[in-house]
Amino acid sequence: MIDRRQFLGNSLLLGAGAALSRYARALPIAASAGAAAMPPIDVAGARFPPNFLWGSATASYQVEGAWQEDGKGPSIWDTFAHTVGKVKGGDTGDVACDSYHRYKEDIALMKQLNLKSARFSIAWTRIQPSGTGSVNQKGIDFYSRYVDALLEAGIRPMCTVFHWDLPQALEDQGGWPNRDTYKAFADYAGIVAKALGDRVTTWAIFNEPWVFTYLGYCNGIHAPGRKDWKLFLKAAHTVNLAQGEAFRAMKAASPKAKIGSAFSMSPGAPASDSAADHAAAERYHAMNNVFFLYTAIHGEYPKAFAGDPPHDVMGVQQGDSKIVQAPLDWIGINYYNRHLISNAPDVPYVQYSDIMPAVGPITYNGWEVWPWGLYDIVTRISKEYNRPIIEITENGCAYSDGPLPEDPLRAPDPRRIEFYQGHLAELARAIKDGADVRGYHAWSLLDNYEWAEGYSQRFGLVYVDFRHQKRTVKDSGLWYGKVAAANHLNV
Ligand code: NOJ
Repeated sequence: MIDRRQFLGNSLLLGAGAALSRYARALPIAASAGAAAMPPIDVAGARFPPNFLWGSATASYQVEGAWQEDGKGPSIWDTFAHTVGKVKGGDTGDVACDSYHRYKEDIALMKQLNLKSARFSIAWTRIQPSGTGSVNQKGIDFYSRYVDALLEAGIRPMCTVFHWDLPQALEDQGGWPNRDTYKAFADYAGIVAKALGDRVTTWAIFNEPWVFTYLGYCNGIHAPGRKDWKLFLKAAHTVNLAQGEAFRAMKAASPKAKIGSAFSMSPGAPASDSAADHAAAERYHAMNNVFFLYTAIHGEYPKAFAGDPPHDVMGVQQGDSKIVQAPLDWIGINYYNRHLISNAPDVPYVQYSDIMPAVGPITYNGWEVWPWGLYDIVTRISKEYNRPIIEITENGCAYSDGPLPEDPLRAPDPRRIEFYQGHLAELARAIKDGADVRGYHAWSLLDNYEWAEGYSQRFGLVYVDFRHQKRTVKDSGLWYGKVAAANHLNV
C-alpha cells in the first residue's frame, strides 16, 4: 500500500517537471486542497477481471510518418506543422516514428510486452486524399496489412476512425465548423468499416472530440489554429452530427462492429464551497467530459452553458436531435489529470475557468499525477450512463528518461512505473465498486509526436531515438509486460 504521504513524499524526492500543460495551467494550491479524503492506494490488492484487455495506444499522425507516401493527401496537421511558429522546435510528423514502414517491429514489441489490444488510428487522407471521392486502395492496403499483423500476433485491433488529422481539402472548405463535413466523415467511416470490418470489430469513432474542436477552433494551439468561440461551437455541433451519422454508416457496413468513441475526461471539483463554483463545476463536466457523449445518448445538449445552449450559433437545425444520436456500444475514457473549477462570468458561453492543481507529483510536461481522479471519473460515468461497458482508451505520463549512457539497452523510468501502479490500482478499485471496465490502453507504446509540443514530451513505454529510429523498451514497458501477463500489479 502506498499512502498519500508516501506518494507525495516520493514526488518531492523525484522532483517536478518543467513545461506547463497545453490543457490547463498547473498551479500550486494549498497542500490540503482536495487531499484530505484520499484513500490509500492498494497496488498489491488490485484485481482485474479475467480476460481484461491490456493494451497500448498510438495515433496515425503521431507515429506513422510517410506523410506523402502511397497517395496520401495533406492533412491539417501536415499544414500546421509545416507553418513556422506553430510547433515547438519546428518539429513535424513527416517521419515521426516511421511506423508506416516499421509497423512490424512495433507489433513485435507489443507482443513482447504481452499486450492483447492495440489502439491505433486511421489517417483519413490515406483513404481519401482530399476527404471525399474515390478511395486510395494503397491506404486501405496499409491498414489491412497492419490489422492482419496484429491478429497474427494475437492482439485485438481497436481502430480509431479519427484522431485529429482532418484532410486539408476539407479544412479549405470550412473544416469542422462547416456542417457538410459531417456527411463527408460518415462516408469515410463507412468506407473503413466496410474495408476492415471483417477483422476489426472494436471501433472508436472519434478521439477526444472536445480537445480537437476546442484547441483547433477556439484557442488555436492545435491545427487548424483558428481562434473563435463561435467556430468552436459550430465545429462541436458538426462533430456531434458526424458521430451519429458515422455510427449508423459503420453499423450498416459492418453489423458486428462494436462502436464507441474515446472521450477526454478529467473530473472537475469546485474550487470553493460557493454555490456558483459548484454550478460551474457541473457546466465544466457537461462541456469538457460529456458534451459528445450525453448528446449521443440523449439527443440533446447537456447543461454546459450559463444560459440555454446557443443553438443558433451552433447551427442546430430541426431534425438534428435524431442525427446526433448514437447508442454507443462502449465508452472510451482518456484520463490524464483532474481540474479545479471556478465560476468565471467573463468566459463566453460556459462561464467557468479551470486550473490543474499541483498537490500530487508533477510530470515533465507539468501535469499533476492524481490516480484518484481515474476512480472518480470512471465511477461517475458508470453511474450516469447506467453501467456501460468502459475501456480506458488512454492513460499515461510524460517523463524524459531514456537509455543509460553506460548501458544503452536499459532505460529506467521509475516515475512512470509509479504512475501506472497508482492509476491501475485506482482503476481496479472502480471495477471493484461496480464499473464494467473491459480494457486499459497505456498512452503510448512509443515516444512520439506530441502535437504542438513536437518531440519534446515522451509518453512511451518504449523509448524512441528519433534520429536512428531505434526503439528501447523502458523499465516501465518491461514492468507493464509482466502486469499484462499476470493480470495483477504484484509483479
Ligand atoms: C491525448 C491524445 O489523444 C493523444 O494524441 C496525446 O498524445 C495524449 N493525450 C497526450 O497528450
